[in-house]
Parts: sequence; structure tokens; C-alpha cells
Amino acid sequence: MRAVWMEEDLVKMIDQRYLPEELKIYTAKNHEQIRYAIKEMVVRGAPAIGVTAAYGVAQASVSWMDPSHAAENIRTARPTAYDLFYAVDHMLKSIKEGRDGVEAAEEYALSVINKCRAIGEHGAKLIEDGFNLLTHCNAGALATVDYGTALSPMRVANEQDKRIFVYVDETRPRLQGAKLTAWELHNEDIPNAVIADNAAGHYMQRGDVDMVIVGTDRIAANGDIANKIGTYEKAVVARENGIPFYVAAPVTTFDPNTKTGMDIPIEERDQEEVIYIDEKRVVSPGSDARNPAFDVTPARYITGYITEKGVFTPKEVDRMFL
Ligand code: MRU
Repeated sequence: MRAVWMEEDLVKMIDQRYLPEELKIYTAKNHEQIRYAIKEMVVRGAPAIGVTAAYGVAQASVSWMDPSHAAENIRTARPTAYDLFYAVDHMLKSIKEGRDGVEAAEEYALSVINKCRAIGEHGAKLIEDGFNLLTHCNAGALATVDYGTALSPMRVANEQDKRIFVYVDETRPRLQGAKLTAWELHNEDIPNAVIADNAAGHYMQRGDVDMVIVGTDRIAANGDIANKIGTYEKAVVARENGIPFYVAAPVTTFDPNTKTGMDIPIEERDQEEVIYIDEKRVVSPGSDARNPAFDVTPARYITGYITEKGVFTPKEVDRMFL
């Protein structure tokens, strides 16, 4: 499955807002529509956002437009996922060096796909036959163009005929776990069950979870990570119960210029996302809601980072770049 691609001068993507009920394709004709797609979560997940942005800059490079103008607009779509900024900068540099924009974006997309496959190969070595895993949000093919980050080791372990089971946090408010991760795991024939976000601690305490694997939107220089809201408490409960907590991401999610997790900008999204589920109001009239999209998990709770270059502990974060 490919979640984002380019056809002639159009950028196409699976519209994640309609899954699992409908498989619709969204077509972006210009940088405004690319920005809309990222901001409104037509496409979401840090690596997929990065690839969409790269295609958006490439699209501008084959139009009448100055690609740096499109790049600046696309860059402001969402604040937390580092891949967005990495991809835009990478594209502007490639075009400045005289490369063809579309070729450079395609090469970038393929490199993301290859990295995710390598994450799967490295991560699968940590998964034993019979393991029960837990994941939060969606870090599968939809979020990364193909394979996934957190889901890639599970897919490879499944291909290796290891018997695994995945607890899928539903991931309020946008339900990426219930709608997207469960859909992807089902399509891969990987046994899974969706649980309410607040049930994860219960299963961890009972010894029913052998390992947690999540994705991330940004890794700070000190190894802290930002990921979907609710990740932090899963990491704390995993530590309390002696369960390994892994973060899977390509090295391009690592932001050496952001010192600690507390320096990562955390997106606050519209309160309506909490107040309504599928257009039905679930919050008592008169109450407001708060809606931080991400939280920060300190490096001390992280057992290791599963990257395309191998698995690193928090103390080895610098070695990712060697
Ligand atoms: O707001 P989203 O859906 O774009 O957030 C994505 C996440 O936080 C995911 O957990 C993901 O792991 C990071 S990208 C693979």
C-alpha cells in the first residue's frame, strides 16, 4: 500500500479522514491544498506529512511558482512533526543544487519507505514468538507512506510466522488507533483488539503486555520524544510494570536543534475534536474542552529507539548519525 504519491503534477493521497468506512483519494493541485491536507489531517503521521510536503514543493517547482513560496506556506501547516521541516529544507536544498524537484521528491519518498522496512527488520528481532504488544495512535503505512514505524516490526515479525497479538489504544480524540491502526493490522491478518486509552494500564499491570512500541513526531537532542497525546502516561506505566518501551522512527525524525522535549512545540488543536465524535456531541453543553495533540515522553522512560540504522538506547542517541 502506498499512502501518498505523485501523478504528473498532482499529489495524491489516501484520505485518512474517511477510513475505515471509505477508501477515498484526495488530490492536491497546489500548495494551498497540500497545506490544507496536512493541517486538516487528510494525511497525518510525521513521515507521511514529510513526503506530502516534499511532493508539494516538487509540484510548485514544475509550475509557474517559486518553490520557496510554496515551501514557506506548507511549513506552517502543523508545528510538531519534525519530518515536515526536514523534508521542506531537503527539497529546497536539492532544487537549489539544480536537481529536478519531482525526481528529488520521489527519491525522498522511496528513502522513507526503505527506512521503514529497515526499521521493521531491526525491530522484529526484539519481538519473540507469542508476544503481546501494545501501540498508541497510528504509526503504520498510512502514517509513513508504507510499512510504518511502530507497525513495521510487527508486520515483519508476522511475516516471520511469529505469533503476536496487538493491543491497540483507541487514541482519543481523533481515534487513529481504533480507525487506522486496527484497519491496517486487520488487513495484515495480525490479531489485535482495540482498547479504550485508559485500559492500557490495566493490561500492563496484569502482565498481559510484553512490549510497547510507538512512533514519534520528533526526537529532541537529549532523546526525549513528542508523540500522540497519551504516550507519556503509557511510558510511565510501562516502566512501573517493567515492560520495555520502544520508539520507532527514521533518523529524519531526530531534531538535533531542539535540546529537550520541553522545547518541542506542542500543537493545540480545535476543541471541537474532543467535544464531538463523528459529528455527535459527547460533551455536556456549556463545557469547553482542551485538545493538546501531543505530549512529551522523557528519554528516561525509553528502552530504545528502533531506527533504520539499528536499535539505540537513550545514551547512544548521538550514534544514530555516525
Ligand atoms: O496527529 P497525528 O495523527 O499526525 O500524530 C501522529 C502520531 O503522533 C503518531 O503516533 C505517529 O507515531 C507519529 S508518526 C509515525
